[in-house]
Amino acid sequence: MHTTIHKGKQAAALKALEFVTPDSILGVGTGSTVNIFIDELAAKGVRLEGAVASSEATAERLRSHGFEVLDLNYTGGISLYIDGADEANPALQLIKGGGAALTREKIIAAASKEFVCIADSSKAVDVLGEFPLPVEVIPMARSYVARELMALGSDPEYREAPRTDNGNQILDCIGFSIDDPISLEQQINNIAGVVSVGLFAQRPADVLLLGDEQGHVVTQAREV
Ligand code: A5P
Repeated sequence: MHTTIHKGKQAAALKALEFVTPDSILGVGTGSTVNIFIDELAAKGVRLEGAVASSEATAERLRSHGFEVLDLNYTGGISLYIDGADEANPALQLIKGGGAALTREKIIAAASKEFVCIADSSKAVDVLGEFPLPVEVIPMARSYVARELMALGSDPEYREAPRTDNGNQILDCIGFSIDDPISLEQQINNIAGVVSVGLFAQRPADVLLLGDEQGHVVTQAREV
């Protein structure tokens, strides 16, 4: 990873530790920034009652540090979710899913009282959409969904990758200029065969921690 980007991710991940209540149940996202967060959580000796993981990779990393991984079906609501993003706009709406974990990320974000997003400052944009928007699809619906996404104005590309943790496939949508994120999220959600879209607009982050190459962190909180 580019050193300056790594420094920004590390700064944001360290800042996120301040939000964690010891002995609580924590929602944990997926990606390189979250990996730093998990490692720092363990290095600082923070104890948790347990964690709910948004991917098998995160679950494995949590377990490797001795954290118990819990099933969301048995935890009830979660007070805090920490996760990264591929893009974030000033309203703290996000594009996520570069790591293919968008569906479980969306579920945990929805089930959490507070969502703290951690990222390096290169992820901040005015308008979402330069990063290809991931859409998780049921495999048999892939071509149909791709045609519908083209009708909405994008150029979807099939991600040549192993199936998601849910056994599905990903279409990466190039070319959306997302002026109305909530409306686009709803339109894509309405396509039969779509499992979820990596647009986090109806449920944006509550707090965005952006780390820069000097190791400084800017904290943005959503106005409610
Ligand atoms: C995982 O599916 C994504 O939503 C990640 O949160 C996102 O790609 C951020 O990843 P990095 O922290 O590796 O930039």
